[in-house]
Amino acid sequence: MDIKDARNSIPALNGRILLNHAAVSPLPIKAAESMKNFLNDKVRARLTYNVNLEHWMEKARDSKRFFSRLIGATEDEIALIPNTTFGLNLIAHMLPYKPGSNVVTNTLEYTSNVIAWLKLRELGVEVRIIRDVNGRISLEGFEKNVDERTVAVAVGQVGWFNGFRHNLKAISEFAHDRGAFLVVDGIQAVGNMKIDVVRDGIDFLACGSYKWLMGPQNAGFLYIKKDLIDELNPPFLGENSIDPGMVERSIYERFDPFDLKYSKGIGKYEVVHIDDVAYVGASESMHLILDFGIERVEERIKRIDEYLVEGLLERGLELQTPIGEGEYHAIINFKVKDADKVMEFLSRSNIVVSKRVGGIRVSPHFYNTEEEIDIFLNILEKASGTEML
Ligand SMILES: Cc1ncc(COP(=O)(O)O)c(C=O)c1O
Repeated sequence: MDIKDARNSIPALNGRILLNHAAVSPLPIKAAESMKNFLNDKVRARLTYNVNLEHWMEKARDSKRFFSRLIGATEDEIALIPNTTFGLNLIAHMLPYKPGSNVVTNTLEYTSNVIAWLKLRELGVEVRIIRDVNGRISLEGFEKNVDERTVAVAVGQVGWFNGFRHNLKAISEFAHDRGAFLVVDGIQAVGNMKIDVVRDGIDFLACGSYKWLMGPQNAGFLYIKKDLIDELNPPFLGENSIDPGMVERSIYERFDPFDLKYSKGIGKYEVVHIDDVAYVGASESMHLILDFGIERVEERIKRIDEYLVEGLLERGLELQTPIGEGEYHAIINFKVKDADKVMEFLSRSNIVVSKRVGGIRVSPHFYNTEEEIDIFLNILEKASGTEML
């Protein structure tokens, strides 16, 4: 697959320049068509009880395999969950806290990766928040805050508004030395770079699929490192969480309310029934990314990022993204005087970006081209010297 093939498979790219993948990605036609067809078959199945849906269910299940390949995990380490926020909350509430325990997060995190932890204050857990300096969180910040009482260090691999890229390997070594888990919000990274949960020592990772994975809403994934799957238990339970024998007895005999046995394996964490149509879409979208190759995706995005950064700096714009070697990925944010006016100005030329934290966030995917970046920069240039920029 080349860039042209990829672009041809995404109808929303016609007539506009989409540089907004950190918000919501366009849907590949195959994902849209498969979801529609599955839904049609589902409706027919309920009307006639005479339609076999097994091949669709298989496609939905494929999503685990595809996701695990994108992050270097195995399929049996992936649970299906509704979204990132759900996953982060689930993790936050299942870790073993003691009096005096703390968790560590930072000011570059998206709300979800802060509030899930802040809630723990109600249980007496201290929540330490490392402050960023000029859009960066230093390793010294972790050194000062993570100690023997730290249960979890929670970070997003790529920062949601400025693209700051944490050095997860260094953070996990540090956290593990002190007995803490590394919890990663993956939604701004999975699909735009190769993640390696083993290399980076990631214990948990939560991710939705509507951003860089180009999938629909409601198709989230939770990675739990193999050794921890049986050691821990989910904080709330659904049918999948309990021993299948118990479930069967509850259906054919009666539920035994005096006993609770957990099911084995990752399924224990799949506490809500999944939106199988969404996972069919997510499978198709991830298939497209894997077909192009995640390493190639990462490489292309890096090249486009560098081209964009150069162009913004040449035009005298101030970046909120730290641009040292290896410090950022996929998301570039530059300051403007009037973000609403800039957004309006760009949208008149059918350019889609986001207004975030006092600046404009630009988030190109692998199929965006240097020509599109040139058009974007030339249009910005027309606004320079006005009250907008
Ligand atoms: C870094 C980050 N985490 C979490 C979320 C929320 O994701 P979800 O809708 O999958 O819960 C967002 C959404 O913008 C995000 O940018």
